[in-house]
Amino acid sequence: MKKKPIIIGIESSCDDTGVSIIRNRNVLSNIIIHQKIHKKYGGVVPELASRQHDLNITKAVKQAILLSKVSINQIDAVSFTLGPGLIGPLLVGASFAKSFSMGLEIPLLTVNHIQAHILSHFIQNANINNSYPKFPFLSLVISGGHTQIIQVDDFFKMKILGSTLDDSVGEVLDKIARALGLDYPGGPMIEYFSKNGNNKKFIFSKPTVTGLDFSFSGFKSDVIRFLKKRLNKNMFFIKQNLSDICASIQKTTAEILSEKVQKAILKTGIYRIALAGGVSANYEIIRTFMSFEKKDKRCKIFILKKEYTTDNGAMIAITGLLKYEKNLFDSIHVTPYSKFKTF
Ligand code: KG4
Ligand code: ZN
Repeated sequence: MKKKPIIIGIESSCDDTGVSIIRNRNVLSNIIIHQKIHKKYGGVVPELASRQHDLNITKAVKQAILLSKVSINQIDAVSFTLGPGLIGPLLVGASFAKSFSMGLEIPLLTVNHIQAHILSHFIQNANINNSYPKFPFLSLVISGGHTQIIQVDDFFKMKILGSTLDDSVGEVLDKIARALGLDYPGGPMIEYFSKNGNNKKFIFSKPTVTGLDFSFSGFKSDVIRFLKKRLNKNMFFIKQNLSDICASIQKTTAEILSEKVQKAILKTGIYRIALAGGVSANYEIIRTFMSFEKKDKRCKIFILKKEYTTDNGAMIAITGLLKYEKNLFDSIHVTPYSKFKTF
């Protein structure tokens, strides 16, 4: 019988140190160490993030191996995020992975962070459907760094159909949350406070970008202008209306995203949609996309379980495994990149 490969995945592109061990497509361990230090700065400070990764990475690797119950010598290959992301944090993960590969004499596999978000649906039971999306499908990647609609024809055959022309959706939610006086990361805080809110109370402007590209900076400015205007008249405006403001922001965000995806469906004739990235954990966005299935029986929506939405090591390990199966190994001389290039 063919041996089931055991892969370790290391993620360090932003402010989460993620390490996971998978056997075949099954997650044996998935350790995430969140960096709390950035909370008081209202956003990620790259220099501090690098130092925190340096402090946490050995701990995360040790815990992941221990929890997986495999011995270090059973690991067949090491995969890690090469980019895009913050260069300092990426270098910490890259150096660790290279040393690990050299020390154990096992292959090295580099991973594109966005591709990993998309391919996280191929981890066993990673989505609430408990099934893998069939090719071709459309992926909506919505995170702190990215907002893209991607046509996925095969594991490593992907085509970008639309991207944000300015801010990413997660970045905008984080900035709006800051203006509301909420903690970083702001997306989950907006979700939390929107729970009992009236999502029709406030109307915000939606971008008018044609085609499948997004724009979020106009929406952000509109919300911030609106808050300033109302606060000038009533200094307690946010406090008195927080739930309704958050619910209305979430509704507009979900509509901007879903309207573009509907356009992409019409353009491609592809009705399978897989959401990925931190923002896809949002219940209003999930609810909006799930309603597609009711409206049109041809639609099939794939929603990740919460632990696989935000950055994690398992998505790096699964992408590594899929490369390993195709013998797509990398040399020790690779070096991280910060900006997205191509797939
Ligand atoms: O995928 P991720 O962990 O990191 C990047 O690759 O950027 O995404 C982080 C982003 C942050 O902007 C955070 O506010 C947002 O995901 N986020 C959410 C939720 N959970 C995380 N946004 C809305 N609702 C949530 N429940
Ligand atoms: Zn990410």
